[in-house]
Amino acid sequence: MTASTPSAAARPARLVVTGAGGQLGQELIRLAPDASALGRRDLDITDPAAVRAVIEPGDVVLNCAAYTAVDRAETDTAAAFAGNETGPAVLAAACARVDARLIHLSTDYVFPGTEDRPYDTTDPTGPTLVYGKSKLAGEHAVLTLAPRAHVVRTAWVYTGRGSDFVATMLRLERERDTVDVVDDQLGAPTYAADLAAALLELVGRPDAPRLLHATNAGQATWFEFARAVFSGVGADPERVLPCDSSAFPRPARRPAYSVLSHRAWDDAGLTPLRPWRVALGDALARLSD
Ligand SMILES: NC(=O)c1ccc[n+]([C@@H]2O[C@H](COP(=O)([O-])OP(=O)(O)OC[C@H]3O[C@@H](n4cnc5c(N)ncnc54)[C@H](OP(=O)(O)O)[C@@H]3O)[C@@H](O)[C@H]2O)c1
Repeated sequence: MTASTPSAAARPARLVVTGAGGQLGQELIRLAPDASALGRRDLDITDPAAVRAVIEPGDVVLNCAAYTAVDRAETDTAAAFAGNETGPAVLAAACARVDARLIHLSTDYVFPGTEDRPYDTTDPTGPTLVYGKSKLAGEHAVLTLAPRAHVVRTAWVYTGRGSDFVATMLRLERERDTVDVVDDQLGAPTYAADLAAALLELVGRPDAPRLLHATNAGQATWFEFARAVFSGVGADPERVLPCDSSAFPRPARRPAYSVLSHRAWDDAGLTPLRPWRVALGDALARLSD
């Protein structure tokens, strides 16, 4: 080593984003263009040899790879656990081996959804869906295997592109006079760009608690969220009509209440995410640019 070659400890950490082709991964790469972007074709997180070959000492790995097909998971259990438990376990072990850090994403669906106040990081979990069970198994693997890992639970993530909820509402606004949207599930709509910025702040805070919740502030039902999307593009929000979940039976019955408390995030002095309606306004403005 020469005076001009900084030690690994002094060098800025290399960011590695796995699952970089997904909605959150893409936002992270947009905000941190120097990060190493690994889509599924570049790195399958369930492949131990491939993962070990990629992760270097001092890296900070942001794992956005996951099996996210919530309904399909009910019958595709093995694939859900492979993506959401085996993959994170492989990443955690590889990070621990070379003293890299891991920031891993999890979900509100680790909770049963029977509360009527925001779930804290200290509350007992109790997933009812295969997806939630597989994500909880992934949390345990990460926290057990990687001493320097953080698990960040989030919820109701959107960009407004592809086929997410906001994109779907924008399409239905163009195609239909009225739209029925469920009004009996409460959560916190979360703009992927805000979540990505929050995760990048966490990169600089290795001292933060290992288990955190990060969503935009406030809460809404899907119906309220849909009305806000309509209003946000100048459409009449009254065209969105409330219904209950029984109108849309799905293989995976979503928890009724999945608002996450930000206490641990705030107590750590991390920047609170802004209210979801403000974030949605920015997201819609960006889409129309
Ligand atoms: N979206 C939400 O509302 C939400 C809510 C709560 C928590 N989360 C969590 O937030 C994180 C990011 O979610 P997201 O919305 O960005 O999901 P996403 O858009 O579905 O992206 C996930 C990405 O992971 C890839 N992937 C799946 N299995 C993989 C494997 N074995 N190796 C490498 N890549 C793999 C997927 O590739 P393919 O498309 O080819 O399968 C996809 O590109 C996940 O941990 C998710 O559980 C999301």
